[in-house]
Amino acid sequence: MTPNAPLLGSAWYPEQWPESRWDADLALMEQAHMNVVRIGEFAWSTLEPSEGRYDLDWLDRAITLAGKHHLAVVLGTPTDAPPAWLTTKYPDTLGMNADGHYREHGGRRQFNYASLRYRQLCALIVRQMAQRFGHNPNIIGWQIGNEYTDESFDTATRAQFQHFLQAKYKTLDNLNRQWTTAYWSQTYTAWDQIPMVNTNGNPGLLLEHKHFVTATWRSFQKEQVDVLRAAILPSQFITTNIGGLAWSDNWDHYEMTEDLDLASWDDYVGQGHLQPARNAMLNDFVRGWKRQNFWVMETQPGSVNWAPINNALAPGETRALAWQTIGHGADAVLYWQWRDALNGQEQYHGAIAGPDGKPLPIYDEIEQLGRDLDLTRSALAGTSPHAEVAVLHDYDSRWAIDFQLHTREYDQQQVLVRFYAQLQELVRSVDVIRPITNLDGYKLLVAPSLNVIPQTLADHLMAWVQAGGHLLLGPRSGMKDEYNSLHPQRQPGPLAAALGGRVEQYYALTEPVRIGKDATTDIWAEQLSTTAADTTVDLRYGVANGWLDGRPAMITRAVGRGSISYLGALPDEASMRSLMSTAVHDAHVAASSASLPKDVELCIRSNAERTIAILINHSNAAQQAVLTGRYRSLLPAVSTRPGANTTTVELPMQGVAVLEVSR
Ligand code: GAL
Repeated sequence: MTPNAPLLGSAWYPEQWPESRWDADLALMEQAHMNVVRIGEFAWSTLEPSEGRYDLDWLDRAITLAGKHHLAVVLGTPTDAPPAWLTTKYPDTLGMNADGHYREHGGRRQFNYASLRYRQLCALIVRQMAQRFGHNPNIIGWQIGNEYTDESFDTATRAQFQHFLQAKYKTLDNLNRQWTTAYWSQTYTAWDQIPMVNTNGNPGLLLEHKHFVTATWRSFQKEQVDVLRAAILPSQFITTNIGGLAWSDNWDHYEMTEDLDLASWDDYVGQGHLQPARNAMLNDFVRGWKRQNFWVMETQPGSVNWAPINNALAPGETRALAWQTIGHGADAVLYWQWRDALNGQEQYHGAIAGPDGKPLPIYDEIEQLGRDLDLTRSALAGTSPHAEVAVLHDYDSRWAIDFQLHTREYDQQQVLVRFYAQLQELVRSVDVIRPITNLDGYKLLVAPSLNVIPQTLADHLMAWVQAGGHLLLGPRSGMKDEYNSLHPQRQPGPLAAALGGRVEQYYALTEPVRIGKDATTDIWAEQLSTTAADTTVDLRYGVANGWLDGRPAMITRAVGRGSISYLGALPDEASMRSLMSTAVHDAHVAASSASLPKDVELCIRSNAERTIAILINHSNAAQQAVLTGRYRSLLPAVSTRPGANTTTVELPMQGVAVLEVSR
């Protein structure tokens, strides 16, 4: 039986410890009010010590013991780390790095994701596990592999890539035309001439390699989904934990999560401290993959071991981070990890229990989170964030820009956060979604860096605009088609006619330039023009770099019942704030009435019955927040002071309030 969300737990590796110790570990987890534990994802050599000789009994006992301590289990398939006997006997299962070197045993992720033999061997172990545990009532879900990461560049995989291209393009003439291979004499006369590279290649080829990597990981995953689904209870979910702080661009996360029941990711801070707007955006981004609540399958108990400086989070910050993820739609938070293995590559990573098995200082903070969740779970269950504003994010555009950055300063995550952070402060709830999805219900869509706009996407966006949507395109939008070719018309390509304007020229900036009198833009600026009488100029550059002086920086045109705007610059914070405020106002989006200090974040989760407000003080000083309306605190440690239609909340450093709106 799946316990009610949000759940709390950690990754635990019973195979690393004597069985006599397990009960003490699980008892300590239970004492911290945890209710879920993830096991198994690196245990292949223990589960199958030699080929075909399976030993699943120990895992069965671990699962049963977890159940005795009221811990539900997420079981990992162990396919991220094949045993030494496997790669020694079947060396063709090893992957090749882009530099031409085969990976070796001794780390993890050494396998070739495209190898048919490796996939068959995975299916065998996964089937064993599914048949043994697929009806175990204490298993609530499955995690496939772990953070799919490395592709392979061996010749067999390259042949698969060539077949992939053949299936898509049908003829070499077509491929040669779409990739403009007459350029540098790249023309192909046989499919097996096509190289497979991930840098410095033809932009059309590079984009297709990303599509191939996505398709290959997706089929790797789907084969395991199929093996599991054939044997497990329908109530057991299937997920995978997505790494790279969710932002990794190896493959398309929307496509990869389509075959899963649940999106989950690994939310690490690394060096430094939580950057609230960035982490808020990342959680909303993850929620956007399946447009539903998600799990944080791993997060750090204080510190990691892989950053340049592995500092600890401040007291309270680990709990604040967990509450932030919940505020943005996480239905579970699991720490990585319970206790460090005595040996192995991650001895210095943050953990909850020390090598002696006793709680480390962070234990108390996590236990407090556990108590918080016990008090708020029934109110939070079934709620999620809801937004009228979305920021668009799209992998083809991400890749197309990153292949040819033009300025190393153009970091798409930072660009996205510049828009997102202002919107979040204005309206509190913001979605981050891909553009090809159902757009009903959104009033405002903001698309920074929507570089690839094929005709189909333009039509999709136009239908939404015609029906009343307000679309704000950001810099570098509408430059490319689905083959990563330049559109023959100027940006924003197939939307230029409707916009009644276009980009005359783009400029990578070495220093900020003025917009109007008071504002500036940095990194990137586009000179815009209007081509229709009813297109208005919202902003002009001031005295800038000569080319831009006095030229339009932002234009808008009413289209159908909505509008399209194009902003060709990255305005400074204050100016971005006022632009987003105007956009929100013009799109009739309800602005938030809360008056909050800068470091205090407000997240809203709701359903038809109730609205829950989560306030998080991201600073190391006490803060006061004043909310409009009446709220009731669900955590006894936090008191609220009612005023005439206001509620004042005092938050200690890194403090959290969970409030139910009184209706
Ligand atoms: C994750 C990985 C875990 C562990 C963790 C350390 O990327 O999934 O297995 O290595 O990092 O931070």
